[in-house]
Amino acid sequence: METLIPEALQAYMDRLVSPLPDLLQEIETYTRAHHPEAHMLSGAQQGQFLCMISQMIRPRRILEIGTFTGYSALCLASGLTEYGQLYTIEAREADAGLAQSYFNKSSFRDRIRLLIGDAREILPSLNEGWDLVFLDADKTSYIEYFNMLLPKVRPNGFILADNIFFHGQVLADPVKGKNAKAMLDFAKHVWDCDQVEQVPVPLRDGLMLIRKK
Ligand SMILES: C[S@@+](CC[C@H](N)C(=O)[O-])C[C@H]1O[C@@H](n2cnc3c(N)ncnc32)[C@H](O)[C@@H]1O
Repeated sequence: METLIPEALQAYMDRLVSPLPDLLQEIETYTRAHHPEAHMLSGAQQGQFLCMISQMIRPRRILEIGTFTGYSALCLASGLTEYGQLYTIEAREADAGLAQSYFNKSSFRDRIRLLIGDAREILPSLNEGWDLVFLDADKTSYIEYFNMLLPKVRPNGFILADNIFFHGQVLADPVKGKNAKAMLDFAKHVWDCDQVEQVPVPLRDGLMLIRKK
């Protein structure tokens, strides 16, 4: 994963971040060794950030779009309240199967609901009020996800959107590529929405932390 963070600073930060639980390290090691798209995994910096954000919010309902091999879902689940639940949606069956095998090994096995399919089709069937949403799937659908989910996010609930820098491509002039363009459009869409306030977080590929007023 290319980032805008200089290599030396990244290496320094890697030394400072607390290690994550063994199961998360197992997922990262396996994914990096066996998955052709391992760069998609959040990794320790972002993983620890997701854990702490969730532990600060203490959500009752979390929604993640883009499970991949289950790493970020397990980070986010660490902040759930006692009877809280995390829903996570993954389009690819093989990745979902791998993620489920890790969820089964975790203490959150009964509190994570993995839904397999296209999030755009699944979302209308979920009747929950979300305390925390993590957008980490197809970039060209972020605006659609935001519009569908905002009414279901509780007041003072949060949406975290990943890859807002899109490998630095959002800074190119002109911006090329559908994903970088989609992230620019998404940032503008959020900026224009008076129901939320937001702050970009320059971690890894950039996160947008959005609070519903
Ligand atoms: C960047 S990866 C997610 C990484 C994961 N959140 C993590 O940090 O380890 C994006 C995932 O979203 C899935 N995806 C893409 N489009 C989707 C859609 N429309 N519905 C559900 N999942 C989708 C991909 O198959 C891929 O596994």
